[in-house]
Amino acid sequence: MTGTTKHIAFIFDLDGVLVDTARYHFLAWQRLAQELGIHFTEKDNERLKGVSRMQSLQIILELGNRQLPQAEKEALATRKNEWYVGYISRLTPNDVLPGVVDFLESAREKGIRLAVGSASKNAMTILERLAIKNYFAAIITGHDTTHAKPDPEVFELAAARMQVAAKHCVVFEDAAAGIEAAHRAGMLAVGIGRAANLSQADLLADGLHDLTVERVLTAFEKRFLTEKNIKDEGLHS
Ligand code: BG6
Ligand code: MG
Repeated sequence: MTGTTKHIAFIFDLDGVLVDTARYHFLAWQRLAQELGIHFTEKDNERLKGVSRMQSLQIILELGNRQLPQAEKEALATRKNEWYVGYISRLTPNDVLPGVVDFLESAREKGIRLAVGSASKNAMTILERLAIKNYFAAIITGHDTTHAKPDPEVFELAAARMQVAAKHCVVFEDAAAGIEAAHRAGMLAVGIGRAANLSQADLLADGLHDLTVERVLTAFEKRFLTEKNIKDEGLHS
């Protein structure tokens, strides 16, 4: 593996990894929760990261001990999304998180394939507003999947679209559900954010500004070689 990175892929979650839209999701959900008379804090919001829009609403309703008919839930989710779309319509390329463009450039120079694996149905709009869409060979959004993280579907689809084996993919995620999804797909998981949320990650960083492609590749090679040794030893025993 050393010296050749041609068959490696990096798959990035979007919200919280490439752009800080988690803040806007929180503001829109908090507004909805307030209207429903449900107390909803930033700590509660952690549980919403990486999960789908309808599941997020379900978590908020459970916090308020509320049960609503499906049609009403759909209307509420649509309302929240309208506020959220209002926030993201103001995004510009300046909102790309620090270090992201340098990291993508550096990975691209090394021949690493790049993808986005997001639960968001707004992912394409956000990537366009940030002007980073062209870096990615595959973009999987909430429109392409039927199972939300921690199900591995989104990352498996990204790998298949790029024609890269799952074991050669590295996922970058800010949500515990995303780390679990990466592991269930058989991929290395880099946690972006606070260690407390991401204890299962193989490697941790505050953000892509805090990471180099070389460091990720070293972690990747270490795991790859360790697994290979275990397999070889198994064959010879
Ligand atoms: C994920 C976010 O990326 O997308 C979640 O982490 C969000 O918080 C989910 O609920 C769905 O987003 P959207 O834009 O389809 O409502
Ligand atoms: Mg995220």
